Amino acid sequence: MSRVALVTGGSRGIGAAISVALKEAGYKVAANYAGNDEAAAKFTAETGIPTYKWSVADYDACAEGIARVEADLGPVDVLVNNAGITRDAPFHKMSRDQWQAVMDTNLSGLFNMTHPLWPGMRERKFGRVVNISSINGQKGQFGQANYSAAKAGDIGFTKALAQEGARAGITVNAICPGYIATEMVMAVPEKVRESIISTIPVGRLGDPADIARCVVFLASDDAGFITGSTITANGGQYLT
Ligand code: CAA
Repeated sequence: MSRVALVTGGSRGIGAAISVALKEAGYKVAANYAGNDEAAAKFTAETGIPTYKWSVADYDACAEGIARVEADLGPVDVLVNNAGITRDAPFHKMSRDQWQAVMDTNLSGLFNMTHPLWPGMRERKFGRVVNISSINGQKGQFGQANYSAAKAGDIGFTKALAQEGARAGITVNAICPGYIATEMVMAVPEKVRESIISTIPVGRLGDPADIARCVVFLASDDAGFITGSTITANGGQYLT
């Protein structure tokens, strides 16, 4: 029987590539999304992957959403915490709302999604949790005090939970993508973006598929001895 994978923010950008790659690898995939109904409908039409709408920033909505997915597809074996937002601003201009929105989605979202799924993974003695952090959680980024803090938090969450999941057959790992060609990165002012690309040794933005392949590996049985790790996929831009 094929395993069930749930990808948050799974209908666009890196998340869409992850959903598709997991489906191609034989998983039954559910893609969560928060806002863009049109993109979600188009994604389902093109890929056949069902989409489910709720905000990962809302604990109760996560519990309800997960229950819907599990009623449709069965217990979730693989959780990919990919959903993320940016609210970039230099710190002196950053509002409390910009801080809070990013913390709620990019950090608390991991708690909200993983916590309801954790007891079932422990009972079944199998689970894969893959958290999509960021290069900017590793190195910090001008204009992203909120995002960098949340993404660094994702790595701490990963390392702590890996220790708790290990004996229950659950692995918890993080991936730190560098700058990937998605709408999020394209929203960075062109001049700033060009200067960032000039610091990437491979000389290009990453492809969403570059990250999706890492997820498929971490979700697989072959990766059962890897837990608490952080895979850096950034074209050499920041070496950890
Ligand atoms: N280092 C030092 N100074 C910098 C800087 C940097 N990296 N970037 C900008 N500055 C300076 C500018 O030169 C400018 O200085 P002057 O005032 O002396 O000219 C000043 O900071 C900018 O001030 P502004 O008041 O004009 O700032 P702003 O309100 O327009 O905001 C910004 C600027 C939003 C931070 C913009 O620079 C920006 O978007 N930067 C990119 C941030 C970024 O990399 N975001 C990543 C998004 S993608 C993502 O997050 C995915 C992922 O995981 C990688």
